[in-house]
Amino acid sequence: MSKEKVQIFDTTLRDGEQAAGTRLGAREKVEIARQLVRLNVDIIEAGFPASSPEDFEAVRLISEQIEGPVICGLTRAIKNDIEVCQKALKKAKKSRIHTGIGVSEIHIAGKFANDKYGKTMGQKQATILKMAVEAVRHTTGYTDDIEFYAEDSGRADRAFLYEILEAVIDAGATVVNIPDTTGYSMPEQYGALIRDIRANVPNIAKATISVHCHDDLGMAVANSLAGVKNGARQVEGTINGVGERAGNAAIEEVVMAIHTRCDFFEEVETNINTREFYRSSHMVADMLGMPVPANKAVVGRNAFAHSSGIHVDGFLKKRETYEIMRPETIGLDESRVVLTARTGRHGLQHRLKEMGYTLSKAELDKTYERFLAVADKKTEVFDEDLAAIISDEIHVVEQIYELQYLHVSCGTGTLPTASVRIKTKDETKQAAACGDGPVDAAYEAIKEATGQSPKLENYSIRAVTSGKEALGEATVRITEDGRTFIGRGVSTDIIEASAKAYVDAINRMVSTKNKGQQPELKVEL
Ligand code: KIV
Ligand code: ZN
Repeated sequence: MSKEKVQIFDTTLRDGEQAAGTRLGAREKVEIARQLVRLNVDIIEAGFPASSPEDFEAVRLISEQIEGPVICGLTRAIKNDIEVCQKALKKAKKSRIHTGIGVSEIHIAGKFANDKYGKTMGQKQATILKMAVEAVRHTTGYTDDIEFYAEDSGRADRAFLYEILEAVIDAGATVVNIPDTTGYSMPEQYGALIRDIRANVPNIAKATISVHCHDDLGMAVANSLAGVKNGARQVEGTINGVGERAGNAAIEEVVMAIHTRCDFFEEVETNINTREFYRSSHMVADMLGMPVPANKAVVGRNAFAHSSGIHVDGFLKKRETYEIMRPETIGLDESRVVLTARTGRHGLQHRLKEMGYTLSKAELDKTYERFLAVADKKTEVFDEDLAAIISDEIHVVEQIYELQYLHVSCGTGTLPTASVRIKTKDETKQAAACGDGPVDAAYEAIKEATGQSPKLENYSIRAVTSGKEALGEATVRITEDGRTFIGRGVSTDIIEASAKAYVDAINRMVSTKNKGQQPELKVEL
C-alpha cells in the first residue's frame, strides 16, 4: 500500500522561541535552520517578521541562505503584517505566509472587546470572518502557498469554525491550521475535531489540514497523532517540544511514533531523516539554554540507558526485550572524540561539523581561541561547552559597552565589592560599588560605569556541564520604559559570566534605543 506523506512543519524558530526567558539572534536562527534542513523538515516557520526588527532580519536571512524546505512567516490577519512578511520572505525559493486570527468565543471576547468589532458575539464573529477572508485574499497577491490558522480552534464554537474554514479556503488558503492553542483538548476530542472538520467543511478537500498542539496538559504529541489518525496531513511542532508555556508538540516524538509504530500508522509516513534528531535536539537545547530532561522521550540522556539488573540482563540477551527503537535511528552513537587542549584546530573543526555547525573562518578562529582557554582549565571539553561558546560567539550584539576588567571581592563577614572598567567608542570608565552579593556588586558597578540603570527582572545561571570547572552560562532579563531585553554570558567564572550577560543586555537595550527600534518584547498575537 502506498503511504501518504505527513508534512512536518517546524516552528522552533517562531513558537519555540516564544518560550519564556529565551531569545535567539538572527545568526543563531540561521544555524538552527541549517540543521533543520539536514533533518529534512518540509516547512520551517522562521519567525513573525512584523513583531520585531530582529524577527524580520532572521526571516530575511533564512530566506536568503536556506534552501530545501518551504520558508514560512507568521502574520496576524492585518495587511501591514502580511506586507512586512512578504518583504522578509522575498528571497526564499519556496515561501509560505501563515496568517490567521482567534476564533474561539474566549479569544474573540478578549481580543476584540471593542464595540467597533460588533456589539454581540454574532456581530463580532461576522467581523472576524471578514478580517480572515480579507487577510487571505490580500495574501493571494503575494503567494499561492497560504496557511490560515484558526487560533484556539480547540475551544471554538464548531459551527463558526466550520464557517470560517470554508470561507478562507474559498478565499485561497491551501493549508488550514487547527491549533489547540491552550492545550485544552484530550486526544479523543482533538481527533474527533479533525474528523468533524473533514465531514462538515464542504471544500476541505482543497486544503491540507494541519495540527498545532500545545502541551499544557501533556497531550500535545498524543493530540497531534490523533489528528493524523483522523486525516491531518501536516503536523506542527518544535524540537524538544520547546515553546510558549508548557511548549508545543515535540517533533522527534511525533515522528518517532509514526516511524516506530508504522504498524499502527500504516497509512502515513514522513520525509524526516530521523538520524538527525539527536544533533538537532542538542543544538536547540544549547542555543536556547534549555537543557533536555534526562528522561525526555527519544532524545533524553536516559532514553536508551538500561540500569536495573533485570532490564540490563534482558537487554543483553535480546535488545528488543526492552528497546523499541535503536539509538542509531535517532543519530545516537557512542563513538565520540574526547576534546582536550591537545585536540588541535582540525580536530575541533571536525567535531563542530559533527555537531552540525557551519562556522565562518572568523567564527572558527574565535571559537578555537576560547576552546583553548576552556581546555586549559578543564581536562575534557564536552559538546555542551562547545555549544555554549559558539552560542556566545555568534550571538552578535553591537558592542557599545565592552567589559574590559572585572574584579570582585567577597567572603564571609565582608561586604561584597566590585570594580569594573568599561570601554566605549570614545572613552574608558572605571567604577566601583558594593552590593548584597558579588553579582549584585558587579551589576551596581556596571550601572555606574555605563550610566544605564535598567530594572533587573530576572537572573539565572546554569552550569553547562558538571564539575567544578564547568562553564557557567548566565541569562538576564532587564526592562526599561516597559521594554524587555535579554542578555547572555558564558565563562568558567560565574561572576564574569553574570557580568557579561548584564553588559550584553545593556548593549541590546542601548543599540535598540539608538536605532529607534521596536522593543524586543514581541508584538503579541
Ligand atoms: O498556538 C497557536 O495558536 C499558534 C498560532 C499563532 C498558529 O501558535
Ligand atoms: Zn502555538
